[in-house]
Amino acid sequence: MRIPEETIEAIRTAVDIVEVVGEYVSLRRRGANWFGLCPFHEEKTPSFSVNQHLGIFKCFGCGRGGDVFAFIQQIEHVSFVEAVRMLAERAGIPLPDGEEEADDPRPALYHALRFAARFYFEQLTGPETGQVARAYLKQRGIHPEAVRRFGLGYAPNAWDALLKAATEAGIRPEVLEQAGLVLPRKERGGYYDRFRHRLMFPIFSHTGRVVGFGGRLLEPDPEQPKYINTPETPVYHKGRILYGLYQARQALRTQEEAILVEGYTDVIALHQAGIEHVVATSGTALTPDQARLLARYVRRVVLLFDADAAGQQAALRSIELFLERGLNVYVVSLPPGEDPDSFVRAKGARAFQEYLRQRRRDFVTFHYELARRQGRLDTPEGEAEVARTIVSAIARLPDPLLREPYVRCASELLRIQQVRLLEI
Ligand code: UTP
Ligand code: MN
Repeated sequence: MRIPEETIEAIRTAVDIVEVVGEYVSLRRRGANWFGLCPFHEEKTPSFSVNQHLGIFKCFGCGRGGDVFAFIQQIEHVSFVEAVRMLAERAGIPLPDGEEEADDPRPALYHALRFAARFYFEQLTGPETGQVARAYLKQRGIHPEAVRRFGLGYAPNAWDALLKAATEAGIRPEVLEQAGLVLPRKERGGYYDRFRHRLMFPIFSHTGRVVGFGGRLLEPDPEQPKYINTPETPVYHKGRILYGLYQARQALRTQEEAILVEGYTDVIALHQAGIEHVVATSGTALTPDQARLLARYVRRVVLLFDADAAGQQAALRSIELFLERGLNVYVVSLPPGEDPDSFVRAKGARAFQEYLRQRRRDFVTFHYELARRQGRLDTPEGEAEVARTIVSAIARLPDPLLREPYVRCASELLRIQQVRLLEI
Protein backbone atom coordinates (compact mmCIF):
# COMPACT_ATOMS: atom_id res chain seq x y z
CA MET A 1 0.00 0.00 0.00
CA ARG A 2 1.25 3.48 -0.85
CA ILE A 3 0.33 6.62 1.04
CA PRO A 4 0.97 9.81 -0.96
CA GLU A 5 3.85 11.98 0.22
CA GLU A 6 1.52 15.01 0.57
CA THR A 7 -0.69 13.09 3.00
CA ILE A 8 2.30 12.10 5.09
CA GLU A 9 3.45 15.73 5.18
CA ALA A 10 -0.05 16.90 6.08
CA ILE A 11 -0.11 14.47 9.02
CA ARG A 12 3.37 15.52 10.12
CA THR A 13 2.30 19.16 10.14
CA ALA A 14 -1.00 18.49 11.86
CA VAL A 15 0.35 16.57 14.84
CA ASP A 16 2.43 18.17 17.55
CA ILE A 17 5.41 15.93 18.30
CA VAL A 18 5.68 17.28 21.85
CA GLU A 19 2.09 16.33 22.49
CA VAL A 20 2.52 12.85 20.98
CA VAL A 21 5.76 12.08 22.80
CA GLY A 22 4.33 13.65 25.94
CA GLU A 23 1.85 10.79 26.18
CA TYR A 24 4.74 8.41 26.76
CA VAL A 25 7.40 10.57 28.38
CA SER A 26 7.11 13.33 30.91
CA LEU A 27 8.76 16.31 29.20
CA ARG A 28 10.14 19.60 30.55
CA ARG A 29 10.96 22.61 28.46
CA ARG A 30 14.53 23.87 28.43
CA GLY A 31 15.24 26.55 25.84
CA ALA A 32 14.16 25.44 22.38
CA ASN A 33 13.93 21.80 23.35
CA TRP A 34 11.90 19.56 25.61
CA PHE A 35 13.70 17.02 27.77
CA GLY A 36 12.72 13.80 29.50
CA LEU A 37 13.87 10.32 30.47
CA CYS A 38 14.44 8.22 27.37
CA PRO A 39 11.69 5.61 26.94
CA PHE A 40 14.02 3.39 24.92
CA HIS A 41 16.69 2.76 27.51
CA GLU A 42 17.11 2.90 31.28
CA GLU A 43 18.48 6.19 32.55
CA LYS A 44 18.42 8.38 35.63
CA THR A 45 19.09 11.78 34.11
CA PRO A 46 17.23 13.00 31.01
CA SER A 47 19.16 12.75 27.76
CA PHE A 48 16.11 12.44 25.57
CA SER A 49 15.07 15.60 23.77
CA VAL A 50 12.28 16.72 21.48
CA ASN A 51 12.37 19.71 19.18
CA GLN A 52 8.87 20.97 18.50
CA HIS A 53 9.87 23.28 15.68
CA LEU A 54 11.87 20.68 13.75
CA GLY A 55 9.44 17.89 14.65
CA ILE A 56 12.16 15.50 15.74
CA PHE A 57 13.35 13.61 18.80
CA LYS A 58 16.84 12.51 19.76
CA CYS A 59 18.35 10.61 22.65
CA PHE A 60 21.96 11.49 23.40
CA GLY A 61 22.22 8.40 25.59
CA CYS A 62 21.20 5.62 23.22
CA GLY A 63 21.34 7.48 19.95
CA ARG A 64 17.77 6.88 18.87
CA GLY A 65 16.12 9.65 16.98
CA GLY A 66 13.83 10.61 14.13
CA ASP A 67 10.50 12.18 13.32
CA VAL A 68 7.11 11.58 14.88
CA PHE A 69 6.48 8.54 12.66
CA ALA A 70 9.77 6.97 13.73
CA PHE A 71 8.87 7.63 17.35
CA ILE A 72 5.50 5.86 17.06
CA GLN A 73 7.07 3.00 15.10
CA GLN A 74 9.65 2.40 17.80
CA ILE A 75 7.52 2.97 20.86
CA GLU A 76 4.51 1.02 19.61
CA HIS A 77 6.46 -1.62 17.74
CA VAL A 78 4.53 -1.04 14.53
CA SER A 79 5.40 -0.63 10.86
CA PHE A 80 5.72 2.75 9.17
CA VAL A 81 2.30 2.37 7.55
CA GLU A 82 0.71 1.50 10.91
CA ALA A 83 2.36 4.56 12.45
CA VAL A 84 1.02 6.78 9.67
CA ARG A 85 -2.42 5.29 10.14
CA MET A 86 -2.40 5.89 13.90
CA LEU A 87 -1.27 9.49 13.56
CA ALA A 88 -3.70 10.15 10.70
CA GLU A 89 -6.53 9.01 12.92
CA ARG A 90 -5.33 11.29 15.68
CA ALA A 91 -5.02 14.27 13.36
CA GLY A 92 -8.40 13.53 11.80
CA ILE A 93 -6.86 13.28 8.35
CA PRO A 94 -8.59 10.66 6.24
CA LEU A 95 -6.27 8.35 4.39
CA PRO A 96 -7.25 8.32 0.72
CA ASP A 97 -9.52 5.48 -0.35
CA GLY A 98 -7.75 3.00 -2.50
CA GLU A 99 -4.92 2.87 -0.01
CA GLU A 100 -6.78 -0.14 1.23
CA GLU A 101 -7.97 -2.90 -1.02
CA ALA A 102 -11.55 -2.04 -1.94
CA ASP A 103 -12.70 -5.53 -1.00
CA ASP A 104 -10.81 -5.59 2.32
CA PRO A 105 -13.53 -6.27 4.90
CA ARG A 106 -11.38 -5.23 7.86
CA PRO A 107 -12.04 -1.48 8.12
CA ALA A 108 -15.79 -2.13 8.34
CA LEU A 109 -15.22 -4.79 10.99
CA TYR A 110 -13.04 -2.49 13.09
CA HIS A 111 -15.73 0.15 12.86
CA ALA A 112 -18.44 -2.30 13.99
CA LEU A 113 -16.29 -3.62 16.84
CA ARG A 114 -15.46 -0.12 18.04
CA PHE A 115 -19.16 0.71 17.94
CA ALA A 116 -20.00 -2.42 19.93
CA ALA A 117 -17.35 -1.65 22.55
CA ARG A 118 -18.78 1.85 23.04
CA PHE A 119 -22.30 0.47 23.15
CA TYR A 120 -21.48 -2.12 25.83
CA PHE A 121 -19.51 0.46 27.80
CA GLU A 122 -22.48 2.84 27.76
CA GLN A 123 -24.81 0.06 28.84
CA LEU A 124 -22.55 -0.67 31.78
CA THR A 125 -22.06 2.90 32.90
CA GLY A 126 -25.55 4.15 31.95
CA PRO A 127 -28.11 4.69 34.69
CA GLU A 128 -30.56 1.78 34.59
CA THR A 129 -29.53 -1.11 32.34
CA GLY A 130 -26.09 -1.74 33.74
CA GLN A 131 -27.11 -1.94 37.40
CA VAL A 132 -26.72 -5.71 37.62
CA ALA A 133 -23.28 -5.62 35.98
CA ARG A 134 -22.15 -2.71 38.15
CA ALA A 135 -23.18 -4.67 41.23
CA TYR A 136 -21.18 -7.64 39.98
CA LEU A 137 -18.07 -5.49 39.44
CA LYS A 138 -18.44 -4.00 42.87
CA GLN A 139 -18.72 -7.40 44.50
CA ARG A 140 -15.58 -8.51 42.61
CA GLY A 141 -13.75 -5.36 43.57
CA ILE A 142 -13.14 -4.10 40.02
CA HIS A 143 -12.80 -0.32 40.21
CA PRO A 144 -14.18 2.29 37.81
CA GLU A 145 -10.64 3.20 36.66
CA ALA A 146 -10.11 -0.39 35.58
CA VAL A 147 -13.47 -0.36 33.81
CA ARG A 148 -12.31 2.65 31.81
CA ARG A 149 -8.81 1.41 31.20
CA PHE A 150 -9.96 -1.97 29.91
CA GLY A 151 -13.15 -0.61 28.33
CA LEU A 152 -15.36 -3.12 30.15
CA GLY A 153 -19.02 -3.22 29.27
CA TYR A 154 -22.35 -4.92 29.67
CA ALA A 155 -24.30 -6.77 26.98
CA PRO A 156 -27.97 -6.28 27.87
CA ASN A 157 -30.36 -9.11 28.54
CA ALA A 158 -32.06 -8.99 25.12
CA TRP A 159 -31.83 -10.74 21.78
CA ASP A 160 -31.30 -7.65 19.69
CA ALA A 161 -29.95 -4.79 21.81
CA LEU A 162 -26.69 -4.42 19.90
CA LEU A 163 -28.26 -5.42 16.60
CA LYS A 164 -30.81 -2.60 16.86
CA ALA A 165 -28.39 0.08 17.99
CA ALA A 166 -25.82 -0.83 15.34
CA THR A 167 -28.41 -1.00 12.57
CA GLU A 168 -29.66 2.45 13.55
CA ALA A 169 -26.08 3.66 13.30
CA GLY A 170 -25.93 2.36 9.74
CA ILE A 171 -23.92 -0.79 10.35
CA ARG A 172 -25.14 -3.70 8.25
CA PRO A 173 -26.05 -6.97 10.01
CA GLU A 174 -23.78 -8.90 7.62
CA VAL A 175 -20.85 -6.86 8.94
CA LEU A 176 -21.90 -7.53 12.53
CA GLU A 177 -22.06 -11.21 11.74
CA GLN A 178 -18.62 -11.19 10.17
CA ALA A 179 -17.28 -9.40 13.25
CA GLY A 180 -18.69 -12.20 15.42
CA LEU A 181 -21.18 -9.92 17.17
CA VAL A 182 -24.46 -11.41 15.92
CA LEU A 183 -25.56 -14.82 14.67
CA PRO A 184 -28.06 -15.64 11.90
CA ARG A 185 -31.42 -17.00 13.05
CA LYS A 186 -32.03 -20.45 11.67
CA GLU A 187 -35.73 -20.37 10.83
CA ARG A 188 -37.28 -16.93 10.64
CA GLY A 189 -34.27 -15.29 9.08
CA GLY A 190 -32.63 -12.22 10.56
CA TYR A 191 -30.00 -12.11 13.29
CA TYR A 192 -29.61 -12.11 17.08
CA ASP A 193 -26.92 -10.85 19.48
CA ARG A 194 -24.20 -13.35 20.35
CA PHE A 195 -23.50 -11.72 23.73
CA ARG A 196 -26.47 -11.34 26.05
CA HIS A 197 -26.54 -10.49 29.74
CA ARG A 198 -22.79 -10.78 30.09
CA LEU A 199 -19.95 -8.68 31.43
CA MET A 200 -17.94 -7.70 28.35
CA PHE A 201 -14.16 -7.64 28.05
CA PRO A 202 -13.07 -6.00 24.79
CA ILE A 203 -9.95 -7.54 23.32
CA PHE A 204 -7.56 -5.00 21.85
CA SER A 205 -4.86 -5.50 19.28
CA HIS A 206 -1.41 -4.29 20.31
CA THR A 207 -2.17 -1.03 18.49
CA GLY A 208 -5.33 -0.46 20.48
CA ARG A 209 -8.01 -1.53 18.03
CA VAL A 210 -10.92 -3.56 19.32
CA VAL A 211 -10.74 -6.93 17.57
CA GLY A 212 -13.07 -9.08 19.66
CA PHE A 213 -14.72 -9.70 23.02
CA GLY A 214 -14.92 -12.12 25.87
CA GLY A 215 -18.24 -12.16 27.71
CA ARG A 216 -18.67 -13.49 31.24
CA LEU A 217 -21.80 -14.80 32.93
CA LEU A 218 -23.06 -12.56 35.71
CA GLU A 219 -24.69 -15.36 37.65
CA PRO A 220 -23.47 -18.96 37.73
CA ASP A 221 -25.38 -21.02 35.17
CA PRO A 222 -24.51 -24.69 34.65
CA GLU A 223 -26.28 -24.64 31.28
CA GLN A 224 -23.93 -22.05 29.80
CA PRO A 225 -20.18 -21.61 29.41
CA LYS A 226 -18.72 -19.15 31.91
CA TYR A 227 -17.10 -17.19 29.10
CA ILE A 228 -17.99 -16.94 25.46
CA ASN A 229 -15.55 -15.37 23.07
CA THR A 230 -15.52 -13.90 19.59
CA PRO A 231 -14.87 -16.69 17.08
CA GLU A 232 -12.04 -16.42 14.55
CA THR A 233 -12.80 -13.51 12.18
CA PRO A 234 -10.76 -11.62 9.58
CA VAL A 235 -9.51 -9.34 12.39
CA TYR A 236 -9.51 -11.70 15.39
CA HIS A 237 -7.09 -14.60 15.53
CA LYS A 238 -7.10 -15.90 19.06
CA GLY A 239 -3.65 -17.43 18.75
CA ARG A 240 -2.07 -14.10 17.78
CA ILE A 241 -3.55 -11.95 20.53
CA LEU A 242 -2.41 -11.43 24.09
CA TYR A 243 -5.09 -9.98 26.32
CA GLY A 244 -3.91 -6.83 28.09
CA LEU A 245 -0.90 -6.24 25.84
CA TYR A 246 -2.16 -2.85 24.74
CA GLN A 247 -2.66 -1.67 28.32
CA ALA A 248 0.61 -3.23 29.47
CA ARG A 249 2.87 -1.91 26.74
CA GLN A 250 4.50 0.91 28.68
CA ALA A 251 5.05 -1.19 31.79
CA LEU A 252 6.53 -4.03 29.74
CA ARG A 253 9.17 -1.70 28.47
CA THR A 254 10.08 -0.18 31.78
CA GLN A 255 10.01 -3.50 33.66
CA GLU A 256 11.74 -5.31 30.78
CA GLU A 257 9.67 -8.29 31.81
CA ALA A 258 6.23 -9.74 31.21
CA ILE A 259 4.06 -11.70 33.61
CA LEU A 260 1.94 -14.24 31.79
CA VAL A 261 -1.38 -15.32 33.28
CA GLU A 262 -4.43 -17.14 31.99
CA GLY A 263 -7.52 -15.06 32.58
CA TYR A 264 -9.03 -11.68 31.78
CA THR A 265 -9.75 -11.03 35.44
CA ASP A 266 -6.19 -11.93 36.43
CA VAL A 267 -4.82 -9.20 34.17
CA ILE A 268 -7.25 -6.64 35.53
CA ALA A 269 -6.77 -7.54 39.20
CA LEU A 270 -2.98 -7.29 38.88
CA HIS A 271 -3.23 -3.95 37.05
CA GLN A 272 -5.36 -2.62 39.84
CA ALA A 273 -2.75 -3.78 42.32
CA GLY A 274 -0.17 -1.70 40.44
CA ILE A 275 1.41 -4.66 38.63
CA GLU A 276 0.88 -3.57 35.06
CA HIS A 277 3.31 -5.68 33.02
CA VAL A 278 0.80 -8.50 32.72
CA VAL A 279 -0.75 -10.23 29.72
CA ALA A 280 -2.99 -13.29 29.34
CA THR A 281 -3.38 -16.10 26.86
CA SER A 282 -7.15 -16.21 27.54
CA GLY A 283 -7.23 -19.74 28.83
CA THR A 284 -5.66 -21.57 25.90
CA ALA A 285 -2.19 -22.95 25.40
CA LEU A 286 0.40 -20.38 24.39
CA THR A 287 1.03 -20.30 20.64
CA PRO A 288 4.31 -19.61 18.78
CA ASP A 289 2.75 -16.38 17.44
CA GLN A 290 2.02 -15.16 20.96
CA ALA A 291 5.55 -15.96 22.07
CA ARG A 292 6.90 -14.04 19.08
CA LEU A 293 4.64 -11.07 19.82
CA LEU A 294 5.83 -10.85 23.41
CA ALA A 295 9.46 -11.18 22.33
CA ARG A 296 9.07 -7.81 20.58
CA TYR A 297 8.56 -6.14 23.95
CA VAL A 298 10.59 -7.99 26.56
CA ARG A 299 13.48 -10.40 27.01
CA ARG A 300 12.12 -12.07 30.14
CA VAL A 301 8.83 -13.75 30.96
CA VAL A 302 7.45 -14.90 34.28
CA LEU A 303 4.84 -17.62 33.90
CA LEU A 304 2.20 -17.70 36.63
CA PHE A 305 0.53 -21.06 36.71
CA ASP A 306 -1.94 -23.04 38.75
CA ALA A 307 -0.38 -25.62 41.01
CA ASP A 308 -2.40 -28.44 39.40
CA ALA A 309 -1.00 -30.96 36.92
CA ALA A 310 -2.64 -29.28 33.93
CA GLY A 311 -1.07 -25.98 34.96
CA GLN A 312 2.40 -27.53 35.23
CA GLN A 313 2.02 -29.19 31.87
CA ALA A 314 0.96 -25.92 30.25
CA ALA A 315 3.97 -24.23 31.85
CA LEU A 316 6.35 -26.80 30.33
CA ARG A 317 4.98 -26.22 26.84
CA SER A 318 5.12 -22.44 27.18
CA ILE A 319 8.70 -22.58 28.47
CA GLU A 320 9.87 -24.28 25.28
CA LEU A 321 8.21 -21.71 23.04
CA PHE A 322 9.79 -18.81 24.91
CA LEU A 323 13.24 -20.37 25.06
CA GLU A 324 13.20 -20.84 21.30
CA ARG A 325 12.55 -17.12 20.89
CA GLY A 326 15.54 -16.34 23.08
CA LEU A 327 13.52 -15.20 26.08
CA ASN A 328 14.55 -15.94 29.61
CA VAL A 329 11.77 -17.80 31.37
CA TYR A 330 10.87 -17.97 35.04
CA VAL A 331 8.00 -19.90 36.54
CA VAL A 332 5.92 -19.25 39.63
CA SER A 333 3.42 -21.84 40.85
CA LEU A 334 0.52 -20.40 42.78
CA PRO A 335 -0.81 -22.00 45.96
CA PRO A 336 -3.39 -24.73 45.24
CA GLY A 337 -6.81 -23.38 44.37
CA GLU A 338 -5.62 -19.80 43.81
CA ASP A 339 -5.43 -17.82 40.61
CA PRO A 340 -3.57 -14.50 40.41
CA ASP A 341 -6.80 -12.57 40.86
CA SER A 342 -7.89 -14.38 44.03
CA PHE A 343 -4.35 -14.38 45.37
CA VAL A 344 -3.64 -10.68 44.98
CA ARG A 345 -7.05 -9.85 46.39
CA ALA A 346 -6.54 -12.03 49.45
CA LYS A 347 -2.92 -11.11 50.15
CA GLY A 348 -2.47 -7.64 48.70
CA ALA A 349 -0.04 -6.26 46.17
CA ARG A 350 3.06 -6.28 48.36
CA ALA A 351 2.68 -9.85 49.50
CA PHE A 352 2.01 -10.85 45.93
CA GLN A 353 5.20 -9.16 44.69
CA GLU A 354 7.14 -10.76 47.52
CA TYR A 355 5.72 -14.18 46.64
CA LEU A 356 6.79 -13.68 43.01
CA ARG A 357 10.25 -12.66 44.11
CA GLN A 358 10.76 -15.64 46.39
CA ARG A 359 9.01 -18.30 44.37
CA ARG A 360 10.27 -17.55 40.92
CA ARG A 361 12.26 -20.44 39.57
CA ASP A 362 14.40 -20.37 36.48
CA PHE A 363 13.28 -22.98 33.99
CA VAL A 364 16.05 -25.46 34.83
CA THR A 365 15.20 -25.40 38.53
CA PHE A 366 11.50 -25.63 37.69
CA HIS A 367 12.09 -28.76 35.55
CA TYR A 368 14.21 -30.26 38.28
CA GLU A 369 11.82 -29.57 41.16
CA LEU A 370 8.85 -30.79 39.16
CA ALA A 371 10.68 -34.04 38.35
CA ARG A 372 11.57 -34.49 42.00
CA ARG A 373 7.98 -33.98 43.13
CA GLN A 374 6.81 -36.46 40.51
CA GLY A 375 9.31 -39.03 41.81
CA ARG A 376 11.17 -39.12 38.53
CA LEU A 377 14.53 -38.73 40.27
CA ASP A 378 14.13 -41.84 42.36
CA THR A 379 15.88 -44.21 39.98
CA PRO A 380 19.10 -43.89 37.98
CA GLU A 381 17.19 -44.28 34.69
CA GLY A 382 14.75 -41.60 35.81
CA GLU A 383 17.58 -39.27 36.73
CA ALA A 384 19.23 -39.78 33.33
CA GLU A 385 15.92 -39.06 31.60
CA VAL A 386 15.42 -35.84 33.55
CA ALA A 387 18.97 -34.74 32.74
CA ARG A 388 18.24 -35.32 29.08
CA THR A 389 15.01 -33.30 29.22
CA ILE A 390 16.73 -30.39 30.93
CA VAL A 391 19.66 -30.37 28.53
CA SER A 392 17.34 -30.42 25.54
CA ALA A 393 15.47 -27.43 27.00
CA ILE A 394 18.75 -25.54 27.44
CA ALA A 395 19.72 -26.42 23.88
CA ARG A 396 16.68 -24.50 22.65
CA LEU A 397 18.22 -21.20 23.70
CA PRO A 398 19.58 -19.56 20.55
CA ASP A 399 22.22 -17.60 22.49
CA PRO A 400 25.19 -19.79 23.49
CA LEU A 401 26.20 -17.28 26.17
CA LEU A 402 22.85 -17.72 27.83
CA ARG A 403 23.16 -21.52 27.71
CA GLU A 404 26.33 -21.41 29.78
CA PRO A 405 24.86 -20.35 33.16
CA TYR A 406 21.98 -22.79 32.76
CA VAL A 407 24.34 -25.69 32.12
CA ARG A 408 26.15 -24.69 35.31
CA CYS A 409 22.87 -24.59 37.21
CA ALA A 410 21.78 -27.99 35.86
CA SER A 411 25.15 -29.44 36.74
CA GLU A 412 24.81 -28.31 40.35
CA LEU A 413 21.23 -29.51 40.77
CA LEU A 414 21.73 -32.88 39.15
CA ARG A 415 25.25 -33.30 40.48
CA ILE A 416 26.46 -34.25 37.04
CA GLN A 417 29.64 -32.69 35.69
CA GLN A 418 29.13 -29.97 33.08
CA VAL A 419 31.21 -31.86 30.52
CA ARG A 420 28.91 -34.88 30.90
CA LEU A 421 25.85 -32.71 30.35
CA LEU A 422 27.40 -31.21 27.25
CA GLU A 423 27.93 -34.70 25.87
CA ILE A 424 24.22 -35.53 25.98
P1 UTP B 1 -10.73 -19.18 34.33
O1 UTP B 1 -11.81 -20.17 34.53
O2 UTP B 1 -9.49 -19.26 35.14
O3 UTP B 1 -11.44 -17.77 34.42
O4 UTP B 1 -10.33 -19.21 32.81
P2 UTP B 1 -11.04 -16.44 35.18
O5 UTP B 1 -10.37 -15.50 34.22
O6 UTP B 1 -10.34 -16.75 36.45
O7 UTP B 1 -12.47 -15.86 35.42
P3 UTP B 1 -13.26 -15.62 36.76
O8 UTP B 1 -12.24 -15.17 37.76
O9 UTP B 1 -13.94 -16.88 37.13
O10 UTP B 1 -14.21 -14.55 36.36
C1 UTP B 1 -9.22 -18.51 32.31
C2 UTP B 1 -9.54 -17.94 30.98
O11 UTP B 1 -10.00 -18.96 30.10
C3 UTP B 1 -10.95 -18.47 29.19
C4 UTP B 1 -11.14 -17.00 29.54
O12 UTP B 1 -10.27 -16.23 28.71
C5 UTP B 1 -10.70 -16.94 30.98
O13 UTP B 1 -10.28 -15.64 31.36
N1 UTP B 1 -12.23 -19.19 29.33
C6 UTP B 1 -12.59 -19.74 30.51
C7 UTP B 1 -13.05 -19.32 28.24
O14 UTP B 1 -12.73 -18.82 27.16
N2 UTP B 1 -14.25 -19.96 28.37
C8 UTP B 1 -14.67 -20.51 29.56
O15 UTP B 1 -15.78 -21.06 29.63
C9 UTP B 1 -13.80 -20.40 30.65
MN1 MN C 1 -10.50 -16.08 38.42
